[in-house]
Amino acid sequence: MYAVLKAAGDRNMRVLPYILHKSADRKFESNIAILRSTAGQVLAARQRAPDATGDPKDLLNAMLNGVDPKTGRKMTEESIIDNLITFLVAGHETTAATLSFTMYQLVTNPDVYRKVQAEIDRVVGSGPVMIDHVGKLKYLSAVIRETLRFNAPISAFAREATKDETIGGKYRVKAGEQLVCLLAKSHLDPKVYGDTANEFVPERMMEDNFNRLMKEFPHCWSPFGTGLRSCIGRPFAWQEMILALAMLLQNFNFVMDNPSYSLIVQETLTIKPKDFKIRAIPRGGLMPFQLEARLAGAFSGRTQGSLTTSDQPSPSNLSARRLNNVDKVSVGTRLTIFYGSDSGTCEFMAQRLANDAASHGFKAAVDTLDAAREALPTDGPIVIITSSYEGQPPHNAGHFVDWIQNMDGEKLDDVAYAVYGCGHSDWVKSYHRIPRLVDTTLERLGARRIVTMGTTNAKDRDMFSDFECWEDELLWPAIEKHFGGRTENDNSPTSSLSVSFSSPRALTLRQDTREGFVVAARTLVSSESHSAKKHLEVRLPSNITYSTGDYLAVLPHNPKETVLRAIRRFNLAWDSHVTITASEPTTLPTDTSIPISSLLTSYVELGQPATKRNVLSLYLIAEDGKSKQELYRLATDAYETDVRLKRVSILDIAEQFPDLLIPFNHFLLLLPPMRVRK
Ligand code: HEM
Ligand SMILES: Cc1cc2nc3c(=O)[nH]c(=O)nc-3n(C[C@H](O)[C@H](O)[C@H](O)COP(=O)(O)O)c2cc1C
Repeated sequence: MYAVLKAAGDRNMRVLPYILHKSADRKFESNIAILRSTAGQVLAARQRAPDATGDPKDLLNAMLNGVDPKTGRKMTEESIIDNLITFLVAGHETTAATLSFTMYQLVTNPDVYRKVQAEIDRVVGSGPVMIDHVGKLKYLSAVIRETLRFNAPISAFAREATKDETIGGKYRVKAGEQLVCLLAKSHLDPKVYGDTANEFVPERMMEDNFNRLMKEFPHCWSPFGTGLRSCIGRPFAWQEMILALAMLLQNFNFVMDNPSYSLIVQETLTIKPKDFKIRAIPRGGLMPFQLEARLAGAFSGRTQGSLTTSDQPSPSNLSARRLNNVDKVSVGTRLTIFYGSDSGTCEFMAQRLANDAASHGFKAAVDTLDAAREALPTDGPIVIITSSYEGQPPHNAGHFVDWIQNMDGEKLDDVAYAVYGCGHSDWVKSYHRIPRLVDTTLERLGARRIVTMGTTNAKDRDMFSDFECWEDELLWPAIEKHFGGRTENDNSPTSSLSVSFSSPRALTLRQDTREGFVVAARTLVSSESHSAKKHLEVRLPSNITYSTGDYLAVLPHNPKETVLRAIRRFNLAWDSHVTITASEPTTLPTDTSIPISSLLTSYVELGQPATKRNVLSLYLIAEDGKSKQELYRLATDAYETDVRLKRVSILDIAEQFPDLLIPFNHFLLLLPPMRVRK
């Protein structure tokens, strides 16, 4: 069906003669034949097994049995087949596009998302979604109306004048002339929608205001067309969309798969969001069999930790270890680490912490903060590592922050948590705003803070060293005090990576950034020091726009000389490829073969100063002797002066100790991941 629609659209735009489109036309015809034969089979199946009572009361039976009151004639089989295809085409694409756009608006507007979900929880609760809920889900209706205003899937429709006339006393139209109504424009008219016409504000579409708008500006909102030929499927589509969204939001929480995705609208006959992917997380640990039973109307019980909008029981009322009962845990107690991170620092810290967990007797799970909405575990400690962006949460933390800020009373009594914040003191007013907010709000909600919040400053601190200090000196001792566990004084990374070399040449690129093209570069102020200033002109990729105040991300490379130094230090061939498999979360490209130069250029930071723990782990692999003593000195008394202040990197140390047998996987594990700079 999609191929037919696409080809139908393309045919309208043709400029070349018919003969040059022969093969495309053959494919078009053969796809139409498939549609017709499938519709024919549906019709034949119904004709073979008719129900005497005319049930089910669906469109197919209406077309089969209906008689035109004026002519007394019934529809022909041919016409029924045509109409079946029309309903399929007109009804599928449009509704699917509206559902996708609505989901996009919901995941990018946490506040709206919370209100919709709260309404569904209030109106539907945990039982099956029924038809009489449709009229009661008023805010959800407003959200769909506002979505259709913003992105009507059919963004224009046409009318032909049947006679000469003057429209609105102003516009002279002759019989036979076509007029196109551009919804994409008229739906954003500030005369109707005011200053906020370009903002997503579902409140304006609540029944009373919507009716007022439609009265004051007739047809101002017409995603279903107008008049006699307006959409015949509108009531059906409305029910379908409300029921589908109610079911989805009742049972799942959705987060954007790629939090830095920005909307790209793809146009065929309808418009749709392109490459928009979301992740569904069952609410409160809903199991597949419970979902199946609920959809069948056979289960209306609450799931563990389910539904925590204000009128629902809280997850923390259920289960779990009370923190003040300090008891020993068996190896494998869960440590859950959530991160809010746009450019990767906090995400990397979360992965590092997860890697360390096993040596402390914990089994770690890592996820984004948004995945923790309504799902804060109570069966073990939680560590939250987050940054702030202009005082707001990172893209993958907005729903979580909105959720905790809007919870009433003490609801998280069984949650035990620790927060670590990354920030930059140049943002004076909102320095560490989000980690602080999370830390204090969780406490207000009754959760137990197990250790004072740790922080670091991107302005002038070695962030990873600071994090390691907090982790080693405060976090683990606190976790062990409350939860037991064991500490191994082994600072060497456990070998969660194994590395093998091969030769195919495939390059893996970062997915969360799109490449711009530098079209002009000239030096404005040259300087021997670091402060040279350049003028750059960048051509943006298609579908990306830039307005004053937007940020450009720079995904840097390590300098070629540094990469070559690393290659030489580990005696690698410059054109060798590497395949990494990882048993723990990692930001390195895994299970794919990539050139070693690409890995060292693009995925890891080679120039960052070594952390204390990095040096210590090199000390641990050194054989007894002078090198070992020197590494011990660098890792302890001389760390501050000889490593941190001189910004000595792991590679520098590796070169300084050429005889040190550092396995390559060990080296990779020590390096921080390459981060974007904004
Ligand atoms: C959100 C979902 C939908 C949207 C936004 C939508 C939109 C539209 C629009 C703009 C038109 C043209 C109206 C005009 O020219 O004034 C139309 C026509 C039509 N729609 Fe829909 N539609 C949707 C769902 C459906 C569904 C579910 C069905 C069938 C099951 C359907 C069947 C039709 C048919 C048959 C027509 C042609 C009506 C005629 O020419 O008389 N639509 N739709
Ligand atoms: C555009 C922008 C805005 C920022 N706003 C803040 C802020 O409001 N408060 C703050 O403490 N840090 C702010 N920072 C600093 C980041 O939070 C800090 O660099 C952090 O380490 C980023 O972590 P991440 O890589 O995990 O996202 C901002 C950074 C950028 C690039």
